[in-house]
Amino acid sequence: MQNNRRPLVAGNWKMNGSLELAAELQQTFQQASLQNIDVLVCPPFPYLQGFDVSVSALGGQNLSQYNSGAHTGEVSAQMLKSVGCSYVLVGHSERRSDNAESNELVASKVKVALEQGLTPVLCVGEAEDIRDSGEFFDFIAAQLDAVLNLVGIAEFAHIVVAYEPVWAIGTGKTASPEQAQEVHAFIRGYLANLDSEVASKLRILYGGSVKAVNAKELFSQPDVDGGLIGGASLDPQEFLNICLAAKG
Ligand code: 13P
Repeated sequence: MQNNRRPLVAGNWKMNGSLELAAELQQTFQQASLQNIDVLVCPPFPYLQGFDVSVSALGGQNLSQYNSGAHTGEVSAQMLKSVGCSYVLVGHSERRSDNAESNELVASKVKVALEQGLTPVLCVGEAEDIRDSGEFFDFIAAQLDAVLNLVGIAEFAHIVVAYEPVWAIGTGKTASPEQAQEVHAFIRGYLANLDSEVASKLRILYGGSVKAVNAKELFSQPDVDGGLIGGASLDPQEFLNICLAAKG
């Protein structure tokens, strides 16, 4: 991390955790001194309410592309806001694969989040076969293009991008700092072709088997502005140590 982008470390609990974990995490973070960094926690929907948003920012793991109505099982941007969320993950690879979320659907969710005043954390990243084929830049560009086509480059001033190579998620196979930096620089460069100022301010997080032991090296890369942490965010002390690694 360099420049004046404020680091952001986000914990994605996925379908894990409990009310007890929510309480434990808040207690751990209340006692810590974390300045000059943003911390975001994204627990499952039932654990959102009651989170103290002065301890960390709060985010949903998904949102509906609709604002209300007959969409059983869905949660709207407004609902997330009403329980204190200021962020929402959009297009996580597990939603893209489990729920067949297309680039276009992800883009429409980004649009709704922006319209409703939530900061979308737009997740992009390639699976192992695409990495091996060498075509991962094109793949990520297409993921970005869908959002660019719908909302335009200026809206990226209100978006966070997370690069999460699918082959590194939950596998213990972290991207090397050089691999992460290469893709982060590509994403920033790709957007800089459209608006260099927006691109230079954009926060790009790395996600995929980040732990306290490898966080510092990843976060020290010039285009890595923090992390999106899965498994390690379920251990409050480990998650805090990762946040401290982003403090510099
Ligand atoms: P892990 O940190 O468990 O690899 O998960 C990364 C992730 O998918 C965060 O959204």
